[in-house]
Amino acid sequence: MPVSVIKQNAGVQDHAPSALLNSHDTPRSYSIRQLLASRYHAFWYVFGERLAWSRGMYREHSAEQLEQLSGIARERIERLQRHFDVRFEEQARRLTAFKQYDYLDILEQAWKALKLPRSRGGVVQDVGSSNFWYASVLHTFFRPTELLGIEIEGHRIYINGHSRLDYARGYIQHLPNTQFIVGDYASYVRPADIVTAWYPFVTPDPVLAWRMPLSVFAPHALFSQIARNLQPHGLFIMINQGRDEATIATSLCKKAGLTQQGSCEIRAPLRPRLPPVVSIWGQSKR
Ligand SMILES: C[S@@+](CC[C@H](N)C(=O)[O-])C[C@H]1O[C@@H](n2cnc3c(N)ncnc32)[C@H](O)[C@@H]1O
Repeated sequence: MPVSVIKQNAGVQDHAPSALLNSHDTPRSYSIRQLLASRYHAFWYVFGERLAWSRGMYREHSAEQLEQLSGIARERIERLQRHFDVRFEEQARRLTAFKQYDYLDILEQAWKALKLPRSRGGVVQDVGSSNFWYASVLHTFFRPTELLGIEIEGHRIYINGHSRLDYARGYIQHLPNTQFIVGDYASYVRPADIVTAWYPFVTPDPVLAWRMPLSVFAPHALFSQIARNLQPHGLFIMINQGRDEATIATSLCKKAGLTQQGSCEIRAPLRPRLPPVVSIWGQSKR
């Protein structure tokens, strides 16, 4: 069985080592190495935000077909194509399309394992979307009335001179009622029926690995805003990299006043890596 449902308090505990958390994003103590790296990234982050450079919308060349897939991956992708009536490769290059099937597969497997009803419509917000390369996945899976991707470093410039925003415009150009904005979700106030967060930062090292300054690392503020924006019936869907990260994220969600409705580990994702942990959260009953 490639998915294991995680029982509450088994595997993913509800508390993380306290050294990794502080409840109100108060200043932490970082090593000299972390501080130097953070200063360097801060320079480029601020430079990018001030410049807000754009070379115009970037459109990927479609792969037309996915070739050289192993038997199992091909079978799973063909099943997703039939079930959701999608062909990501018609709009994206091969690697992007493969990653899109991978994210769709994660959602599909989690929904099945947790026996969740499929929702349709509503406002879906994605937190920390990078260049929103997976917007079409969220569109396919949730069929939202409105889809929003929000990314704090949306002006980052790639080697080809295009920015994340340029890419995002290309990825969402054919998706109805979809937008991408550059901003900090922690200060974004708007009700949502579904909020998704794929691999949110819950410890400082991934922030630096993503070439971001540590000043943007404020998980308590971020998770609290998710809880505030979520409608009473709404769902927060979080994907973490492995159980250790999921444990820390679980604590943050609980501190923000969210209640877990289910969690599972995708043990055999399409793209081999540390098994993603999907957890589903709702508002606490008040
Ligand atoms: C680990 S990356 C994951 C990117 C993307 N979700 C994916 O799956 O490819 C986390 C992203 O969250 C963004 N981020 C972090 N804090 C944020 C905030 N407060 N508001 C919006 N985006 C944020 C980062 O800039 C980064 O792009």
